[in-house]
Amino acid sequence: MRAVLYESFGGVPRVVDVEKPAAGPGAVVIQVLATGLCQSDVHAWAGHDPGITLPHVPGHELVGRISELGAGVSTLRVGQRVTVPFVCACGDCPECEGGNGQVCRNQTQPGFTHWGSFAEYVSIESAEVNVIPIPDSLDPGAAAILGCRFATAFRGLVGQARLQPDEWAVVVGCGGVGLSAVMIAAAVGARVIGVDIATDALELATASGAEAVIDSSGLSDDEVVARVREVTGGGAAVSVEALGRENTTATAIRSLARRGRHVQIGLYAGDPRIPMSDVIAGELTLLGSHGMAARHYPAMLDIIASGKLRPEELITRRISLDEVPAAMIDLANARNTAGVTLIVPS
Ligand SMILES: NC(=O)c1ccc[n+]([C@@H]2O[C@H](COP(=O)([O-])OP(=O)(O)OC[C@H]3O[C@@H](n4cnc5c(N)ncnc54)[C@H](O)[C@@H]3O)[C@@H](O)[C@H]2O)c1
Ligand SMILES: [Zn+2]
Ligand SMILES: [Zn+2]
Repeated sequence: MRAVLYESFGGVPRVVDVEKPAAGPGAVVIQVLATGLCQSDVHAWAGHDPGITLPHVPGHELVGRISELGAGVSTLRVGQRVTVPFVCACGDCPECEGGNGQVCRNQTQPGFTHWGSFAEYVSIESAEVNVIPIPDSLDPGAAAILGCRFATAFRGLVGQARLQPDEWAVVVGCGGVGLSAVMIAAAVGARVIGVDIATDALELATASGAEAVIDSSGLSDDEVVARVREVTGGGAAVSVEALGRENTTATAIRSLARRGRHVQIGLYAGDPRIPMSDVIAGELTLLGSHGMAARHYPAMLDIIASGKLRPEELITRRISLDEVPAAMIDLANARNTAGVTLIVPS
């Protein structure tokens, strides 16, 4: 099969022929119909993820059809159109038994712990726990980003921050994750401010339901905080950082009203300093969001079916496998286009 492969961290990825994966016990092989290019793929390629073995095939946000069932898989069938949470849970550990497969201690992740979906086929472990059948009516782009960015934003705002109607939410970084967060917050009935340095990203934030946007390109961090406080009349109830930088994390936290909740989704190259004095004085809550367990997908799929959430509107570009190496280099150099890039392998 064809796949995007890199042999060193930061080394130019190439499209090569590699052996198609086989379905081990409990696993399935999925023929990839579409897969999203997420900033986490770039983090992994940069060497920020200690779990990766080289050479490596990235890609973790996918929709496809089951092409092969491993031994013991009886509840799924070949030909089913499916997605998977990028954090694939084991189903047996204390976290999984407690319903928190998104932090499973034995988790596998396509594109991180094993070869991923920038390929014609990908294998998924513990398939009966993780594979989520989705209707043929769901747009392939919408379905693919449910695997990572949209689901992570949904879990962060709905499951973790418990965002309420009429609360203000500020989203710093309006890329794939941030635009998903804007759309989800607006669907909850919250009032949303999008912050980004790119005007095309801010235009998409407005189209996704942001009531106000702040172009932070010419502003100091203090000025961004002041603008959020002005728009919200004293600070946001919920902040989301969807970028992974120390200063934007501090800006998001400092934009909160007292007792506000911060959701951290952006990943860092190294641990950041956090304005803990603000956290203490304002009794702020810091929350992480790490994907979303398969058992929480039906609630999100119901809202998508109702038309209130439209993830397909976040797809701005469709590319082939051959275009992936250049797109990864562009994303690593912040030359990405606004919205979500979708890869269609064949
Ligand atoms: N926690 C998780 O489970 C999880 C899941 C998915 C992605 N992530 C992480 O979330 C982050 C975002 O991923 P993505 O794919 O949406 O990235 P992206 O590249 O699509 O979006 C980043 C956005 O930030 C904007 N930006 C850049 N510098 C800025 C600044 N100084 N101030 C404000 N905005 C700025 C860019 O213009 C862009 O719109 C990454 O760190 C990724 O690894 C984490
Ligand atoms: Zn587990
Ligand atoms: Zn991702």
